[in-house]
Amino acid sequence: MEYLRYGRDIGFSLRAATSDDAEFLVDMLVAAVNWDPAREVASRDQVLGDRRTAHYVEGWPQPGDLGVVAVDPGGQPIGAVWLRLFGTDDPGYGFVAADIPELSLGVVPAWRGKGVGHALLTEMARRAAGSGVTRICLSVERANRARRLYVEEGFTTVESGPAPTP
Ligand SMILES: CC(C)(COP(=O)(O)OP(=O)(O)OC[C@H]1O[C@@H](n2cnc3c(N)ncnc32)[C@H](O)[C@@H]1OP(=O)(O)O)[C@@H](O)C(=O)NCCC(=O)NCCS
Repeated sequence: MEYLRYGRDIGFSLRAATSDDAEFLVDMLVAAVNWDPAREVASRDQVLGDRRTAHYVEGWPQPGDLGVVAVDPGGQPIGAVWLRLFGTDDPGYGFVAADIPELSLGVVPAWRGKGVGHALLTEMARRAAGSGVTRICLSVERANRARRLYVEEGFTTVESGPAPTP
């Protein structure tokens, strides 16, 4: 009987995010805030100085946080996805309920379009399920190409409206 054996080098690997990744998560948060090249760039200080964005990474890792980092063959982080719970008194942009964690995602520019985003989302969903998380929320602007990625990974729209004012 003939059989075929396949292998594919995806060029990167995935691991759990740790406290050592705090700075990299800030990098990815800054990338997410600045997703639209047509807009004025928000600096790292601005992102960390604004409660509405800083609270996605503040004190990483906090109890309940869950994250996955993609690393290149040399071990350098190239992308990250993470989940954090928010309360009704301090909701994230994608807030749905206090027991539904919100997802943040970013990939460094040189690695975009190579499957890292898909891989991170799939792995995050697997690890979240393993931790008893059954629902995940997020917010994405309509024009962001990331939206298609989320739809392909099974996210569905629960609310839509105008983007919040900066
Ligand atoms: C959105 C983002 C995380 C996607 O990561 P990625 O590693 O490029 O994703 P993938 O390679 O798995 O590609 C996912 C899809 O998005 C498309 N895509 C989205 N943004 C892209 C970009 N900037 N460059 C290339 N492809 C992009 C790909 O073509 C691909 O389409 P496909 O599923 O039909 O093949 C990444 O582009 C990024 O960090 N963008 C800036 C930060 C951001 O917008 N974060 C999300 C905020 S809600």
